[in-house]
Amino acid sequence: MMEYFAVEGGHPLEGSVTIHGAKNSALPILAAALLADGESVIHNCPALTDCAAALEILRCLGCRVRREGTTVTVDTTCRREHVIPDGLMGRMRASVLFLGALLARDRAAAACWPGGCALGARPIDLHIRAFQALGAQVRSWNGQLSLQAPRLAGRRLALPIPSVGATENAMLAACGAQGVTVIDNPAREPEIVDLQGFLRCLGARVTGAGSDRITVEGGHRLHPGEYTVMADRIVTATYLCAVAAAGGEGELRGAQASHLAPVISALKGAGCAIGGQKGRLWIRRKGPLGGVGALRTGPYPAFPTDAQPLLAAALAGGGGKSRITETIFDHRFRYVQGLAEMGACIQVRGDTAAIVGRPLRGAWVEATDLRGGAALTVAALAAQGESRIGGLEHIDRGYEALDRDLRALGGWVWRKQE
Ligand code: UD1
Repeated sequence: MMEYFAVEGGHPLEGSVTIHGAKNSALPILAAALLADGESVIHNCPALTDCAAALEILRCLGCRVRREGTTVTVDTTCRREHVIPDGLMGRMRASVLFLGALLARDRAAAACWPGGCALGARPIDLHIRAFQALGAQVRSWNGQLSLQAPRLAGRRLALPIPSVGATENAMLAACGAQGVTVIDNPAREPEIVDLQGFLRCLGARVTGAGSDRITVEGGHRLHPGEYTVMADRIVTATYLCAVAAAGGEGELRGAQASHLAPVISALKGAGCAIGGQKGRLWIRRKGPLGGVGALRTGPYPAFPTDAQPLLAAALAGGGGKSRITETIFDHRFRYVQGLAEMGACIQVRGDTAAIVGRPLRGAWVEATDLRGGAALTVAALAAQGESRIGGLEHIDRGYEALDRDLRALGGWVWRKQE
């Protein structure tokens, strides 16, 4: 049975939606729950297939896991296993975060190489170098990985690039290392700050997340904790771009404007009015959508790579010119094919997409990755006529129910089966 979104485009939006918890916070936080003895409670954990995979990994490691609505309870009391099954490791990239947590807890971890969105080569050399620097022996053969560390000792780590996952893994492993670990040039994404918040609520001594140096004083026994995951900033960006694309106005409840400064300023530059106070954001577009000129993605606080396809999708149906340069991932323009089928004028040369906005028409297209799939749905809201977006398994990795939320915003989007 094939599932797809049926979208009837060309109608301005009007509505209000609540932003669900952040996938990229919830996943490292679920891995971090392994560090505490006993039952931790995590609120606002979004019901996504990636989170379901993380909960399954925890179960396979021997944890008792319960979900009630968006609250997840992880009880590590009976946990023994330190091998992550291949099927789960291959399902998503973030499963690699369990390695740092297992290393801190058990001094050992084993798994195959991680899966994830097909955005190009996604090595984990920086993760492995951080583990080795803290004292782990890493063996790799036939796509399998084995980590052993009779002893982990804190030390100074300098990341050559501010990798999000490597920063998180270094923080997790450092919690189990005796002494002080200093991580220089860490990623500064809000999700790193959220992970620090959870670790501190377990009693870990971590400071500096969000700055250019994180310090972890490791080796302390951690207790269970209760924590609320922050709102998803890329989901927020998705709905901002949806209103920018289709026109009209929308209210995003629970959204954190401060996490999205470059996205908000790009959309304002293209002609949207955006405002709000703590925990609430609104966007309005009454006139035409212009271009944004030249824009580059980059590590936080620069324009997020995950929002790049979403903004491009909105701009493709607007009336201006834009040039977007992708600096993080090699294969992040795969969604352009789908937009072209909707009539978009986008030329990709190397790492840069040149967009000349013009009216789009509905088409049958296929999501090839998570944000690319959401971007096609955003474009379909602006396109005249009906679109079908297939490949929903990619979209379900990061959105609880993209169709439900877009309907709450006034869009005509329905999940259908054939
Ligand atoms: C995380 C996010 C993802 C987002 C990305 C960049 C999660 C679960 N996923 O992914 O949604 O798009 O940050 O904001 O949080 N790199 C290496 N070696 C490594 C690790 C990374 O060369 O060991 C490179 C990558 O190939 C990429 C760049 O570093 O070019 C950034 O990747 P990274 O920040 O690690 O992204 P992820 O943690 O995989």
